[in-house]
Amino acid sequence: MPAENAPAPAVNPLSSPEPWDLVSEGYDETTREFLAKFSEYGIEKLELRTDDRFIDVACGPGTTSLLAAPLVRSVDALDFSPEMLRIARRNASDAGLTNVTFHEGDGQDLPFSESSFDKGVSMFGVMFFPDRRRGMRELARVIRPGGKVLISSWAPIDMSSAMRTLFGALSAIDPSRKMPERDISSLENPEVFRKELEESGFGSVTVEPVEMSLDFESPEAFWDGMVRGAAPLTLLRKRVGEEEFARQTKIAHEYLRGALRGVNSLASVAYLAFGEKI
Ligand SMILES: C[S@@+](CC[C@H](N)C(=O)[O-])C[C@H]1O[C@@H](n2cnc3c(N)ncnc32)[C@H](O)[C@@H]1O
Repeated sequence: MPAENAPAPAVNPLSSPEPWDLVSEGYDETTREFLAKFSEYGIEKLELRTDDRFIDVACGPGTTSLLAAPLVRSVDALDFSPEMLRIARRNASDAGLTNVTFHEGDGQDLPFSESSFDKGVSMFGVMFFPDRRRGMRELARVIRPGGKVLISSWAPIDMSSAMRTLFGALSAIDPSRKMPERDISSLENPEVFRKELEESGFGSVTVEPVEMSLDFESPEAFWDGMVRGAAPLTLLRKRVGEEEFARQTKIAHEYLRGALRGVNSLASVAYLAFGEKI
């Protein structure tokens, strides 16, 4: 097949800033508090010190930065979504934090020199980068030798009751929509996660499954929270339009009322990978 006729490689819509700009307010209101549980667990293991210079790559609304800032000397937080950064700045200012600097940029090309930081994270960030290994290598470059990092990514959907339930609702709307199979070439595979970090310049790598509970007041609130706070559902809503999305929401609510009778909490599992810059 001539090269010009070859199918273009699939592009993840979440690898551009627009969907993150779109979801930013909802994400801050619904998702941040939940994801902060993973950050809280993870940064405890990084053993932050008051003289640490800390970097947060793909910081979103400041989920991890807001937790780390009171514990360290300084935080540099970077994201490519202007709206996420606007909210992150607002959150830092509301919390009275004066040691956080926010930067608009690409996590694959960090605007910092070598060994600028003692500790660093990218929570649920690099998995969206078109070249996540480049993101890992960049993080390795800006961390000093001996410095510690934490990178998180989602475990396979079938390990999380929250995700299984969400896909149940999506399949009720459109039966051709099936739960995605495990992708063993992605960070869903802890062996791949470990190997990619090692090849990026980190040693003593461990990858730990961490389960947190997602709490909600009602089946409808579970769906509505996901729609407000999850970028893929925000994109779906935009694609199908408000009228069609209202119809789909009715189906989802009805499905969830059956599936979640008496249930107000579901589990979500992430892989937290820790490493030390060699
Ligand atoms: C799921 S959110 C995670 C935000 C935050 N770290 C947290 O734990 O809540 C993913 C974030 O990655 C950012 N992002 C995705 N690709 C990026 C890239 N190439 N460079 C910088 N930021 C990126 C998005 O804008 C979004 O804020």
